[in-house]
Amino acid sequence: KKTLKDLVVSSKKVLVRVDFNVPLKDGVITDDNRIQAAIPTIKYLLENNAKVILFSHLSRIKSEEDKKSKSLAPVAKRLEEILKHKIIFINETRGAKLENAVSELKEKEIILVENTRFEDVANGEVVKLESKNDSGLSKYWASLGDVFVNDAFGTAHRAHASNVGISSNIGESALGLLVESEIKMLGKGIDTPQRPFVAILGGAKVSDKIGVIDHLLSKVDKIIIGGGMTYTFHKAQGLEIGNSLLEIDKVELAKEFLAKANGKIILPVDSACASSYADVTPTIVGENIPEGMMGLDIGPKTIELYKNILKDAKTVVWNGPMGVSEFENFKAGTVAVCEASAKRKADGGFTLIGGGDSAAAAIKLGFKDDFSWISTGGGASLEYMEGKELVGIAAIQNK
Ligand code: 3PG
Repeated sequence: KKTLKDLVVSSKKVLVRVDFNVPLKDGVITDDNRIQAAIPTIKYLLENNAKVILFSHLSRIKSEEDKKSKSLAPVAKRLEEILKHKIIFINETRGAKLENAVSELKEKEIILVENTRFEDVANGEVVKLESKNDSGLSKYWASLGDVFVNDAFGTAHRAHASNVGISSNIGESALGLLVESEIKMLGKGIDTPQRPFVAILGGAKVSDKIGVIDHLLSKVDKIIIGGGMTYTFHKAQGLEIGNSLLEIDKVELAKEFLAKANGKIILPVDSACASSYADVTPTIVGENIPEGMMGLDIGPKTIELYKNILKDAKTVVWNGPMGVSEFENFKAGTVAVCEASAKRKADGGFTLIGGGDSAAAAIKLGFKDDFSWISTGGGASLEYMEGKELVGIAAIQNK
């Protein structure tokens, strides 16, 4: 694929799709990692005298009311602070104000366009022009610039007007520096791993990880399992799971996975339990959990077992927390895999977090710098881990 450095950007109007879909609480950004991750591409464009026009979505827009709390205005402010560079924020997604700002834009100036998903609702109607990759909207946005750079890895699995749409309607398109790094790092972890290769899969549901387990089974040396999905596997093994999370309709599938895994899937041998979903002192229970108890984290014996499996790994790919890591009493399993991974990295191994909840947990628990790569994608990295082609990347021109 063409990449940023293949483009001549000097004095060009460069449309850039970034993923500034950051978590907001009462209008305040609680995690700006995605903004930080877009900085190298923006800086490169400024240094190379481009006129920069940034597009991003923020959350999902289902009503006019939604627009009030989901403006990119706070993002513009944070971006300005990080870059120490003025951001011209246009609080509209189309029209004269945007067009004038674009035509007056000078080299080394930056426009941020309002939340692209505002185009999903017009005059109170749900029209999904952005989310359904409307061709009129795609052509309109494409007409504002000379070239297009897709640096929104987090949105690479969506075929929307502001990524796939612009790519298909503009003369030249390329991948940004973040997307390039993401593909390189995910590829290194998943497609060309050094062995032993251990995947750590957690999270609440087996149903979210079916494609990942399917794809990774043939590649890994071991998959170690944690989180709520444990108990659907335990049920498949005929164990008692008490009131733990269960996807009853996935028990047969869990059995099939275990049968074809050839011993590669490793399950917890004990759990930290409570009588309800609450942050209370845990009761440690072996493989069989009695009625009235639920597993909320992997137990201490499992932690030892997993540390032991991880201790020689040269590649570690992790997706999904080991327990309810936001509960002080049930974060030990997640902390343990962070520590074990940190050690592998320190010893020269390659460690990767495939984004989403596990990335958020690792960052919150203080392990941000202890992994070789933490993906900025949630759904996008999951699809990569499933071996799927990402549409936003596929739409970019070849060299
Ligand atoms: C994400 O956070 O996964 C991306 O920004 C895509 O958001 P979406 O799931 O709302 O399309």
